[in-house]
Amino acid sequence: MHVAYLDLRVNDTKHRQALLECFSKILQHGLILEGPEQLEFEQKLAEEIGVNYAVGCGSGSSALYLALKACGIKYGDEVITTPYTWIITANAISATGATPVFVDVKDDYNIDPDEIKKHITTNTKAIVPVHIAGHLCEMAKINQIADKHNLLVIEDAAQAFCSSLNGTRAGAFSTAAAFSMNPMKILHAYGESGAIVSNSKEILHNVKQLRHAGTIPDPDKISINLCFDISLNHKMDTIQAAFLLENLKRINSVWKKREEIAKLYDRELSELVTIPEIANGEIHGRYMYLFSCRKRNELRLFLEKKGIETKIFYSPLVCDADVYTTNKKKIPVANARRLLQQTISIPLHENMSIQQANYVVSQIKKFYGK
Ligand SMILES: Cc1ncc(COP(=O)(O)O)c(C=O)c1O
Repeated sequence: MHVAYLDLRVNDTKHRQALLECFSKILQHGLILEGPEQLEFEQKLAEEIGVNYAVGCGSGSSALYLALKACGIKYGDEVITTPYTWIITANAISATGATPVFVDVKDDYNIDPDEIKKHITTNTKAIVPVHIAGHLCEMAKINQIADKHNLLVIEDAAQAFCSSLNGTRAGAFSTAAAFSMNPMKILHAYGESGAIVSNSKEILHNVKQLRHAGTIPDPDKISINLCFDISLNHKMDTIQAAFLLENLKRINSVWKKREEIAKLYDRELSELVTIPEIANGEIHGRYMYLFSCRKRNELRLFLEKKGIETKIFYSPLVCDADVYTTNKKKIPVANARRLLQQTISIPLHENMSIQQANYVVSQIKKFYGK
């Protein structure tokens, strides 16, 4: 049996038809950029997350960069983040001119609030927690530290669209947050896409200006070069907004299918491997299924031979990427380094059958002689 790590095909014929209709509608009205679907998507997204504002943009990377810029992060600032993330988290910080400061993670792959405290300096301006795989960071503790030291918190919620704690959604825990909606994400477009969410009108204004080359439209419609900030084009395509609106309608059923598979893995594998725990009242966003285990590399090869695709995240750690190693001394993030050696991600997506999930389980059990 073959089990793909991800499967981006749209197999449901009704859904495929609905997406094709979106395309057809946009070709008819012709508002290819900044069309009505973008505004509708932004309103629905803000409602869904439970914040005042949402702004669509060209990618999750743009979203994080714009959120940081809109919050005033700039050259000379230090921003505390995790080394256990995709490189773009740190690159977005660096692109503002600020310096990312990497602190260790806990056993659940998320940034360790106690480590954050140890790395605050007079230059620290913000904390960027990343909800890895869709599991929420300890936001209450992080916000408490931020309040005490007068720091901003900007969530990298790229992987956490469906995640919540006691009803508060990822993205609603901080001053501003960034989502990725690229085709791999649980709520996704069919191309690059992302969004910023916030309760602040000022951030809304800044982000809208920054996503459009630092300009705002001239109310007299005379000048098209009213530029107030140096920025590039980070706009969202109308077609992606229309696709996102369509996918938003079915997000609950997509999440439920992933949750069912994840729960099956939890039940069947918890005695063989170490699965990160989630908090009471937390709903896991189910972007990825990660666990740490013995003989990780051998397990990976074994599963590959059995037709099961797996992935290793995130190698090298961001702090070890060439661009972030300023001297030969390795940053002491021992837990992140240990997890990187022991962790594997197995298939978790809505196009998988329960039969395939059971096959994955049976092969992992076989590998460990159970
Ligand atoms: C943690 C994290 N941050 C940011 C991004 C950037 O999102 P995008 O690929 O939409 O630019 C991703 C994408 O996977 C991500 O995983």
